[in-house]
Amino acid sequence: MPEFRRYLVNIDSISTHQLFTDCLMVGAGIAGLRAAIEASKHRNVIIVCKDTLENSNTWKAQGGIASVLDKTDTFESHIADTINTGCGIGDESVVDFVVRQGPELIEQLFRWGAEFDQIDGRIATTLEGGHSHPRIAHAHGDETGRIIAEVLIRKVRQNPNIKIMENFYTVDLLTNDNNECVGIIGRDRRSPPGTDQIIWAANTILATGGAGQLYRETTNPEVATGDGVAMAYRAGAILQDLEFMQFHPTTLYVAGASRALITETLRGEGAVLLDNGGRRFMKDYHESAELAPRDIVSRAILAQMLKTISTHVYLDVRHFDKEHFAKRFPHIFELCESFDIDVSRNLIPVRPSAHYMIGGVRTDTSGKTSIESLYACGEIASTGLHGANRLGSNSLLEGLVFGKIAGQLVSQCKEAGIAHIKHPLIKYQIPHSDRTRLDAADVTNSLRALMWRNVGITRTVQPLSEAQEIIGFWQRYVMDKIFDGPAGWECQNMLTVSLLMTRAAEQRRESRGVHFRSDFPNTDDKRFKKHIEITR
Ligand code: SIN
Repeated sequence: MPEFRRYLVNIDSISTHQLFTDCLMVGAGIAGLRAAIEASKHRNVIIVCKDTLENSNTWKAQGGIASVLDKTDTFESHIADTINTGCGIGDESVVDFVVRQGPELIEQLFRWGAEFDQIDGRIATTLEGGHSHPRIAHAHGDETGRIIAEVLIRKVRQNPNIKIMENFYTVDLLTNDNNECVGIIGRDRRSPPGTDQIIWAANTILATGGAGQLYRETTNPEVATGDGVAMAYRAGAILQDLEFMQFHPTTLYVAGASRALITETLRGEGAVLLDNGGRRFMKDYHESAELAPRDIVSRAILAQMLKTISTHVYLDVRHFDKEHFAKRFPHIFELCESFDIDVSRNLIPVRPSAHYMIGGVRTDTSGKTSIESLYACGEIASTGLHGANRLGSNSLLEGLVFGKIAGQLVSQCKEAGIAHIKHPLIKYQIPHSDRTRLDAADVTNSLRALMWRNVGITRTVQPLSEAQEIIGFWQRYVMDKIFDGPAGWECQNMLTVSLLMTRAAEQRRESRGVHFRSDFPNTDDKRFKKHIEITR
């Protein structure tokens, strides 16, 4: 079976250029950056990322970071909201741990220079769906991710123990005969074929983010292609919860333009949803209306689009004071202006898009995966915090907490030094295939359309099994080839992750959280109050 190939490229470790480090960070969103800062206290660190440090989901995050920062809020309330939203499969001990770490780590970011918006000398908080208290901290209005990322990036760029390798595409995790992770193989994207590099590492932390690009419509940047999940799968790591892909209810819908996030905090501060007949419809679907959990709002929008035969619905913010809006939501204000949408007079066309991969590489409470010396944190990790549905703005929090924990563990781990790396001889040769070569870009585009149509917000058995058939067909012609650059490797990774997600979605014959099966609309605790685990 071509999908079971261990590595995507030929490897001869003796003749490949080699680097060595105590700790290798793959990815550079909030989790990777925070982990690097922590690990660098006692270890040398290399960060590799496939684009620049600035190109991440973290950078694009608008709404904010959830935490108990208001005197009238409580840990118990944040814990209860997170567990309720997780629909029965959230890990209560993880939720408790993460929620309680939040305030201290956010205060630390603030001290490091993250200019969170303030009110009366305290960090201001706002509301998002599913939260029973305003607890979303934000910075420069709707530029929270950029502000946090800039602070962390400044710290890593100034740190003499951290070497940064941008534009480096990680192809695969390397493992030895005991299935311990010993580093990676990859290549600088600007270098020609034949210039692969091996980075041997005592410990490797995967923080490669999500996989929104598996879908035609997504809020995610182009780099979010699920590479980390695919390479962890090839290395034999346990994955879980891949069927849970969260769709964000409101992304700007302008035909021909790429989708852009319109933060949920807008609804938290009074924006309402109207259908194309100008009718406010959310009350028909949930008593909390626009502030119902995300999965409910996304499905309600889809249902209303069908009912009114429309490609989108609208966000109405015309009642906001225009000057206040421009200050509070500067990014969205500018975005709308760029499409000639005057928010004080026009409605904002929106519809749901793929947003956040809830499942991923299974980790324990310290970020350890099932593979020795391999850690994961941030969106790629499945820690159990979110259960079957993620509460808005809990992801930056999760990345911050587990980034710190994983980095700390790696920096203190007795065998974390380069001297302990037992790098094996790796020789791997892929047989030549005569089968027809498909164009990777064509397959990628068709795959994204297929995932959107067949494995989207509402799922049912036939489209799910057809999707597996079609992906399997593409795999036969793509997974048997050796590509010499990122476009092909990304296509191979996307096919791998899409197939695993689709299989998991078919296997979960119930509806729970973000996973909605129209053929099994109820939750079935008897058979499915559990995680679906996947290994190679
Ligand atoms: C948003 O601002 O609506 C996105 C926040 C999140 O996904 O956590």
